[in-house]
Amino acid sequence: MDRIVIEGGNRLIGEVKISGAKNAALPLMAASILTEENNTLHNVPDLKDIDTFKKLLLHLGAAIEGGKNTIRICTKDIKNYEAPYELVKTMRASVLVLGPLLARFKKVKVSLPGGCAIGARPINLHLAALEKMGAEVTIEHGYVTASAGRLKGTKIYFDIPTVTGTENIMMAACLADGRTILENAACEPEVVELANMLNKMGACIEDAGTDVITIEGVKGLKAAEYTIMPDRIEAGTFMVAAGITQGNILIKDCPLQHLDALTLKLKEVGVEIKSENSGVRVIGNYPVGSVDIKTLPHPGFPTDMQAQIMAMMSIASGLSVITENVFENRFMHVAELRRMGADIKIEGKSAIVRGRPFLSGAPVMATDLRASASLILAGIAAHGITEVSRVYHLDRGYERIDEKMKKLGANIKKVKA
Ligand code: EPZ
Repeated sequence: MDRIVIEGGNRLIGEVKISGAKNAALPLMAASILTEENNTLHNVPDLKDIDTFKKLLLHLGAAIEGGKNTIRICTKDIKNYEAPYELVKTMRASVLVLGPLLARFKKVKVSLPGGCAIGARPINLHLAALEKMGAEVTIEHGYVTASAGRLKGTKIYFDIPTVTGTENIMMAACLADGRTILENAACEPEVVELANMLNKMGACIEDAGTDVITIEGVKGLKAAEYTIMPDRIEAGTFMVAAGITQGNILIKDCPLQHLDALTLKLKEVGVEIKSENSGVRVIGNYPVGSVDIKTLPHPGFPTDMQAQIMAMMSIASGLSVITENVFENRFMHVAELRRMGADIKIEGKSAIVRGRPFLSGAPVMATDLRASASLILAGIAAHGITEVSRVYHLDRGYERIDEKMKKLGANIKKVKA
């Protein structure tokens, strides 16, 4: 398996351009199922997860054209309504075909995604909502099968503000009969991105981005062309890269408006963040202050930035308490950071991070996408050599992050297996 080798100690200086948002691209690709006309997406990131989703759409019978960052999707000839285990197990976001397939074709069979490194990640809320809209849902042999006449608009309350749950039901509700109101809906920017595209396709969605979203069902949707917003988590990762290396990075296409919680915490620990004409300048200072973090659904501190900020707090001057409130097992990076000399104690949902003057390079193993990013950041800041194995996780969600870090001055290289 490929691994990444880093010789740490360099300050990161220069500029980096943020790619399109993975967690917007995936639901927008799923939305193409809702119309038999061609949807065109621009600024699509070149990632493994995007390739997997393309494979799934092709498996269903869609046609896909285009290059690396632009794709045209035609779902006119979809004749297979099954998302198989082989594809779903590699990428749980495959469940995003559930709502659109059911809404357009009245039937769907999707493998249950199963758990992943960061938690059980059930989809019970997705299924309960579809049942409330009139779908017949059964689960057997590891597959969800759902069928319905025309789905009926209704009021749905999510026990937890689920991002893909909100997206799945929002898509299903677009073609339902009548009005659907989603309460305690996810407010993530990627949900707003999906609503914007669906409205361009002729849907009637209001108040996406708040916790109460209203969707008036329509008879059909037409084609749309859409440019995907930059990836706020990739941008946040580079902001932390500047902070952890006392670097100076100009981040182009940085969606600062979606990063308030992270920005406030970074400023609290002494990072300078200011908007310039051509991007957002992020300057790390020494020493790094310590700060407490609680991850929460948007607009709270993003769980997808928890592992990265923990790497930075590992060299802060003081004690930081990082509480993970979204996923039940998202501390897999702690053991690996400890191998690099980090002083971290886990107490329930909280990690107590006692900052050390520096980390030392070591062989470590990536366990999930954002844990991989955390180890890369730690390696770049550490004294000595760090080897990160299982870096296939990285390629799922970061477009050539090793090349982008190298351009900023990191001594980093990907070593083919
Ligand atoms: C989305 O996952 C993102 N993925 C995740 O990003 C992100 O970490 C997560 O939202 C939280 O922000 C995509 O958008 C493709 P949830 P999702 O449903 O939708 C529980 C990354 O690194 N829950 O909002 O799967 C669930 O177990 C990935 O890019 C239920 O109990 O997350 C979790 O504890 C990782 N039942 C909480 O809700 C359900 O039916 C939030 O999960 C659904 C969710």
